Amino acid sequence: MNLSAYPLEEIAAKVGTPFYFYDASILNAKLGELAALTDGPGLVCRYAVKANSSHKVLEAAKRHGMWIDAVSGNEVLRAKKAGFAMGHDPAVVMYTADVFRDNALQVVLENGVMPNVGSPGMIRELAEAGYQGPIALRINPGFGHGHVQACDTGGPSSKHGVWYEDHLDAKKLADDAGFPVVALHAHVGTGPQIREFDENMKKLVALFAHLLPQYPDAQSVNLGGGIPHPYKPAAEPYPLDEYRGILLDGVRQLTAAAERPVGIEIEPGRYPVAGMALLVARVKDIKATRTNEKGPGHEFIMVDAGFNDLIRPAMYGSYHKISIVGPNAGRAPEPFVVAGPLCESGDVFTRDDQELLQPRDLPRPEAGDLLVLHDAGAYGTSMSSNYVSLGRAAQVFWENGHASLVSRRETLDDITRMECDEPLG
Ligand SMILES: Cc1ncc(COP(=O)(O)O)c(C=O)c1O
Repeated sequence: MNLSAYPLEEIAAKVGTPFYFYDASILNAKLGELAALTDGPGLVCRYAVKANSSHKVLEAAKRHGMWIDAVSGNEVLRAKKAGFAMGHDPAVVMYTADVFRDNALQVVLENGVMPNVGSPGMIRELAEAGYQGPIALRINPGFGHGHVQACDTGGPSSKHGVWYEDHLDAKKLADDAGFPVVALHAHVGTGPQIREFDENMKKLVALFAHLLPQYPDAQSVNLGGGIPHPYKPAAEPYPLDEYRGILLDGVRQLTAAAERPVGIEIEPGRYPVAGMALLVARVKDIKATRTNEKGPGHEFIMVDAGFNDLIRPAMYGSYHKISIVGPNAGRAPEPFVVAGPLCESGDVFTRDDQELLQPRDLPRPEAGDLLVLHDAGAYGTSMSSNYVSLGRAAQVFWENGHASLVSRRETLDDITRMECDEPLG
């Protein structure tokens, strides 16, 4: 994102720091790319709401013809609020999970939303609750991994889906309950190497081609999300046109294997939203530790954003490009650790997936400068928290040269609203 194009200081003066800044033109461009990727018969793109559930994102996804993958009852209801159709004919909104929690089962029943079942117990629960309708079956294909071990979504250590060798047990439960299995699903994530994604998608198609003859009601398979986003400056953008080739070949292969038309759905989350957002923080101080027998010293840029705002670096060691804004941005780079305000030593934005500090070469800022973390649109606000009673950051939407506040900063009243003192018997 071209920082000089945005009045970040002006906005900071109005909404305070830290805040999230979303550029609508980037969001729309990415959604347009996904619409082109899945244009034509047999292909559907669902937006995975978990990546960013802002109403602005959902409305834009709807305008671009996306369908929805929701992973909680409330995500289904947020999609409904944004105007997405409920019901399962067609299943514009699908509910994907391994357990029902909170209102999820009720929301599925009341809105006729198709559940994508990741654990056999969910089929029993649906039957007991009187669900009548189709289901999708999420398979753990036994291979694939996310960008780090903590994001492992396929293989023996992944909790997701029904193990591929046991899928017929789940199918029998569905048959006994009278639920047609109309879609087979898997999500194996990006993988540390970008091109591993292509290989994983082809392997998924082959697996589904093998399973499909046993699923006479299946009309589609879903390859999940995981389209890579180039977080690191040297990373190449993922070539979507090649993915389109894989999808079109996939439709042909699956249709031939099933001997009837079978479509492919995908459900990217990060791809449309990662690059549209900045997390804008204020530099509060610069301080240093010194080398001793425990290790080397570091210079720390202390900012007012923490892992309560953007948890990916602390949780997965994820890389986010960092820039200093303003007159000091032109200074010669020096190695700095960028750290937040929380009473947690892991509250550091520059570390690797082994939890080790990774100083970043940055121009030396002054206290009072703005510092931005780039590519913060996916799993930023949606994973943010009010840890230590810090309110969740404001969200600002930039469209046609105008900024609007689309989620205000969380206040103490918001944070304490649920507190009560009610006898339970
Ligand atoms: C079932 C499912 N679908 C889609 C996604 C979106 O993945 P990504 O944001 O990598 O595209 C996820 C992410 O965890 C997921 O679990």
